Amino acid sequence: MNICIITGSSGLIGSESVSFFASKFDKIVGIDNNMRQEFFGADASTEWNTKKLMESTPNFEHHHADIRNMEQLEEIFGKYKSDIKLVIHTAAQPSHDWAASAPLVDFTVNANGTLNMLEATRLHCPEATFIFTSTNKVYGETPNFLPLIEGEKRWEIDESHPYFTEGIDEKMSIDQTKHSLFGASKVAADVLVQEYGKYFGMNTGVFRGGCLTGPNHSGTKLHGFLSYLMKCAITGDKYTVFGYHGKQVRDNIHSWDLVNMFWHFYQNPRQGEVYNAGGGRFSNCSMAEAIEMCEQITGKPMNYEYTEANRIGDHIWWISDVSKFKAHYPNWTWKYNINDILNQIYIATSNKN
Ligand SMILES: NC(=O)c1ccc[n+]([C@@H]2O[C@H](COP(=O)([O-])OP(=O)(O)OC[C@H]3O[C@@H](n4cnc5c(N)ncnc54)[C@H](O)[C@@H]3O)[C@@H](O)[C@H]2O)c1
Repeated sequence: MNICIITGSSGLIGSESVSFFASKFDKIVGIDNNMRQEFFGADASTEWNTKKLMESTPNFEHHHADIRNMEQLEEIFGKYKSDIKLVIHTAAQPSHDWAASAPLVDFTVNANGTLNMLEATRLHCPEATFIFTSTNKVYGETPNFLPLIEGEKRWEIDESHPYFTEGIDEKMSIDQTKHSLFGASKVAADVLVQEYGKYFGMNTGVFRGGCLTGPNHSGTKLHGFLSYLMKCAITGDKYTVFGYHGKQVRDNIHSWDLVNMFWHFYQNPRQGEVYNAGGGRFSNCSMAEAIEMCEQITGKPMNYEYTEANRIGDHIWWISDVSKFKAHYPNWTWKYNINDILNQIYIATSNKN
């Protein structure tokens, strides 16, 4: 038997992973306790996705388990042992703002939960490949000190800077910067995943996401930028833009493209490797450009306001350089750009409302 375990299986990346890998494994074992609803309220519940996956994926087995609970993990891993070939760990508390309201919960989910998952893998299926969704927030505020120039609709890096062509690579320091508590708990997890590769020789990969997005996101005010923006564009609810004159730039990668990276990594895994994983120069937008695109797609003006204070931990300009991943896995490239992504989110959100 070939088993793939996916945590956060009802969330954006987890559910995309379930659908992607269902035909490649005998069984997909999902772990998700719908904690997203506890973080962000009923609007952000991922229960709809759990139901959808259970109905549409015959070889999917769902466990309403908590990654903080080692006994529950032991039971699942103990049942399948070395049949487990791949572990995709996406369950997390994913918001900066929320983390500051409950640091202990944030850390126990993001850091302790990841350690539990690594230990369960080491004890029961050490040969398995372990994939972790980290974040570009491990670099803290450091990107904000790059030579950035304010343009008409977006911030950009000076053309003479080495990051101009491809974006920011993995050599940027993750140390001595303000991360937000969320960034700090993800750093702890990120380094642990690297260590299980470097120290124990396990196949572990860290994917530091830019903006991860797609039609399966349960977008909410505090998390899921494009999904929530499009929701407001459709419903007319007021959207608040925080700081940087609304010109902050994010790169956006479709969940399918990220999960396709996981697939390439799984087929030829490395030990404790780290990759920046985002839309890069291929797929990115500023907040102002995203609002314009939403208005074009919905055919109506957006209802938004601007607040001078920026969100703590927000990047002014982030473009991921994915050259390292492409060098290791030359057959991978993006399939969906920002236009494809927004159009897909529009259709999915319209159908939900
Ligand atoms: N979405 C982004 O823009 C983005 C960017 C960079 C990194 N990431 C990282 O990627 C990963 C996936 O993000 P996403 O957007 O799919 O998040 P998501 O919130 O859509 O999915 C996470 C899922 O994990 C579940 N979960 C949370 N705590 C749990 C717990 N204790 N036990 C079991 N399940 C639990 C939630 O209920 C949710 O369904 C996260 O680690 C996140 O930090 C996301």
